[in-house]
Amino acid sequence: MSIIVTGHDFNLQTAHTSYLMGVLENGEMGQYYYGPRLGDKVNYADFRHREFRSVTPTLTEAQADVTMSMIKQEYPSYGHGDFRYPAYQVTYDNGARISEFEYQDYEIEDGKSKLGDLPSASAAADDQHVQTLHVHLLEKQSGLQLTLNYSVFEDEDMIVRSATFANTGTTDLKLNAALSASLDLSDDQYDMVQLSGAWARERHLYRRPLTRGVQAISSTRNASSAQQSPFLALARKQTTEQAGDVYGFNLEYSGNFLAQVEVDSYNVTRVTMGINPFEFGWQLKPRTRFQTPEVMMTFANNGFNGMSHNFHRFLTNHLISQRWVKKPRPVLINNWEATYFDFNEQKLLDIAKSAKSLGIELFVLDDGWFGKRNDDHTSLGDWQVNLAKLPNGLSGLANKVHDLGLQFGLWFEPEMISKESKLYIKHPEWTIHVPDRRMTPARNQFVLDFSRQEVVDYLFDQIAAAIRETHLDYIKWDMNRHITEMFSLALPAEQQEELPHRYILGVYQLYERLTSAFPNVLFESCSSGGGRFDAGMLYYAPQTWTSDDTDAIERLKIQWGTSMIYPLSTMGAHVSAVPNHQDRRVTSLATRADVAYFGVLGYELDISKMAPAEKATVVEQIKFYKQYRELFQQGTFIRLQSPYDGDGNVTSWMVVSGDQTTAIAGRYQVLAEPNPGYRRLKFAGLNPDLQYTIEGVDGQFSGQQLMSAGIFIPALFDERADNKMHTFDFDAKLYVIKAV
Ligand code: DGJ
Repeated sequence: MSIIVTGHDFNLQTAHTSYLMGVLENGEMGQYYYGPRLGDKVNYADFRHREFRSVTPTLTEAQADVTMSMIKQEYPSYGHGDFRYPAYQVTYDNGARISEFEYQDYEIEDGKSKLGDLPSASAAADDQHVQTLHVHLLEKQSGLQLTLNYSVFEDEDMIVRSATFANTGTTDLKLNAALSASLDLSDDQYDMVQLSGAWARERHLYRRPLTRGVQAISSTRNASSAQQSPFLALARKQTTEQAGDVYGFNLEYSGNFLAQVEVDSYNVTRVTMGINPFEFGWQLKPRTRFQTPEVMMTFANNGFNGMSHNFHRFLTNHLISQRWVKKPRPVLINNWEATYFDFNEQKLLDIAKSAKSLGIELFVLDDGWFGKRNDDHTSLGDWQVNLAKLPNGLSGLANKVHDLGLQFGLWFEPEMISKESKLYIKHPEWTIHVPDRRMTPARNQFVLDFSRQEVVDYLFDQIAAAIRETHLDYIKWDMNRHITEMFSLALPAEQQEELPHRYILGVYQLYERLTSAFPNVLFESCSSGGGRFDAGMLYYAPQTWTSDDTDAIERLKIQWGTSMIYPLSTMGAHVSAVPNHQDRRVTSLATRADVAYFGVLGYELDISKMAPAEKATVVEQIKFYKQYRELFQQGTFIRLQSPYDGDGNVTSWMVVSGDQTTAIAGRYQVLAEPNPGYRRLKFAGLNPDLQYTIEGVDGQFSGQQLMSAGIFIPALFDERADNKMHTFDFDAKLYVIKAV
């Protein structure tokens, strides 16, 4: 039993954690404890000690020691004496914003059901290791019901939370804020860890000590965004990759979000996460309900790697489509950086033929195949082939690619519209804009109003036709701008604040319909690279284009940060041309592959023009990747030496098979060091009692020795003195480790 109920107290237990809460004096839910597992027998009374504080609002005249500002809560309200930021706010029909929810009862469900029109975790009812608790509260005055949902995933040490509001009364209500979860921790001695960035440098790691007051990250772009990830971790000061306590929170949502930490004057740390209340409002008419997205919460006492493994296992077992998550992902070639918009059928077929001869499995035709699209000013929305470029049509090209023995993939940007398009002439009203205000372009394009059912239907028909015509194997779904002038011509004034969330629901609906109608099509999500790398997208599209930045050195930081939450099977990683198109850096073909192996490998350069020696190298790379594909895509990924530590000159990481018999580590050096210090590389995740060999290293080692002492790393000049052509800037080395 992972959920133990004692009277009005609840004990949610995973393999290594406990989460305790109970009903408070005012009928709301109080938070007692979240951390290492306590077992079945708990002294709840100790969590209910109350103390008098002067000049503080009290619950009633008689209960002078019950002050809401001193009490840790589960889903806090504002207006009855707790002046911290709440988890929700409702406006009632008289304009008041004071709620008085009272606990009613609870239900326990075996397994975890899906949420319906939102991406969500799931587990079958006969899964012995997953249970869901629904705690029901009622606002008697208005008839508003609130259900707090907690799914307990024992094996992954994960608790998934969400809230459901249902108006069972007779008056119109409005939700001004409805976050997914709130948690009050009993002290503030944590660092806040976040993943922030920009285009081409997504998910860089930032760590800062908590301080009194509010610290938050958020998105107001209506995309989870490259700028901030819907994630945060709270770690003890001494927590490292391999050791120490850390809480991780991640939102399964792709739109505006808020991830906030508030430290109050009593050192209590309140974490709240969910849809950003800014640019949000929801009319809750009688007999309607509102469901928040889900938050994943985990606690680990074995460092950031421990937290990441919980996220990786959870996403793999319970969120990403089971149809795809463990399926070997094809090695792909993408024509974007090879041709940009300048291609014809012959050029593409030359690339495809070379791809086949190198061992590549999937050919992806990127932007520029439709309408009159020869640059980024035109044709978004017109998803019909450009016959000037592809005179034999899409099917002509697709058939030839299939005949070569390759899979065929296509790029779409479904959510966008160009002013220069047939669609815009026909349906200007489908564009998100305010009629009497300026329209702000970005990448010369505008955004379709995905809150309109007819827009979603139109895109479904367009994309479905292309899938049927080409027997398509793969879709890259791109999204290259954020939304400005947020307004829908189809919504009444009082519902305009619903547009950001309704837009995301429309995106999810299109994904749901396409993935259900065409279950054999593999989807990769993309947003100018990794601008929408989130669990909401991964629910539909099992892989995401991690970043437009394919420079191997920049990728160390990007892939390191991304791996904080997401497993390697989700990260598209390509070998591209040098000088690199984003930062002009020149790295060796070997280094580029040695970084890209740790993800879903692809190539994105004109391979038809490669020198024979380079082609031979690529053949070997793809052979190597396929030999260890399962390990690279499904193994346990462990971060060893951080590119964010010290001068960041050395990064290392590794991936270990489930049975700990095979592992591959990568060690990367940014700049060569003359006469360097003494160096060793310590591994992790191996079986201490097994003996291992390492290709290229003499002798055998116990797993214990490899993890505790590591191996000697010689100065690179000595080691490769024979290779006069080798540069030791941007150097990479792989270690293939096998149990004897
Ligand atoms: C942005 C993507 O990240 C690129 O990979 C490419 O698909 C371009 N868009 C095409 O416009």
